[in-house]
Amino acid sequence: MGFDHFSLLAPFYDRVFRGKDLTQLKSLLGLPTDGRLLDAGGGTGRVAHNLHGLASQIVVTDVSNGMLSEAIQKDGLTPLQAHAELFPFADASFTRILVVDAFHHFCNQREAAVELWRVLAPGGRLVIEEPNIDTWPVKLIALAEKLALMRSHFYAPRQIKAMFEPYNAHIEIHTDQQYTVWVVVQK
Ligand SMILES: C[S@@+](CC[C@H](N)C(=O)[O-])C[C@H]1O[C@@H](n2cnc3c(N)ncnc32)[C@H](O)[C@@H]1O
Repeated sequence: MGFDHFSLLAPFYDRVFRGKDLTQLKSLLGLPTDGRLLDAGGGTGRVAHNLHGLASQIVVTDVSNGMLSEAIQKDGLTPLQAHAELFPFADASFTRILVVDAFHHFCNQREAAVELWRVLAPGGRLVIEEPNIDTWPVKLIALAEKLALMRSHFYAPRQIKAMFEPYNAHIEIHTDQQYTVWVVVQK
């Protein structure tokens, strides 16, 4: 990985990106679960710590040590440094997986999709929440991130869906009235 922009942001991240409404995400994830939950690219644990008690264990993985050092301070989370493209987990380890605002930051989205599918348990559910690149405001954000050399790569919802189609997964795309899209994959 190149320069870690997120380590610079980490101490302020939760204050800047606070007050996130998790209603839709929780509902699409189908929580609670008796199994383990993975928040991939989970950063400071901003989202995961609000899911405390809704899974037997909540694992937060991220490449950024700075972001994870914030997650370590939150109760009920198991933070671990790992690339989403190469998880140190056995097949079928998690009944629920979420990826919030991180998929476009991953180094290789197709490799990450393979890994997300591999570690998802049969009967389990994966929810990828992304800014919807099919909308103009998000196209502008994508341009700004390029100018900031953030190396992000936004895929359209139908392209993310296509990454899971070879598995014959049940896949749904949900959008809100604004700029968010959720791709829900059931194994
Ligand atoms: C915009 S932040 C979102 C963090 C968290 N999901 C949230 O919503 O608060 C994106 C995160 O993706 C992480 N990330 C970038 N590339 C990654 C990769 N290849 N594998 C795992 N995490 C990665 C970054 O370090 C960063 O913490």
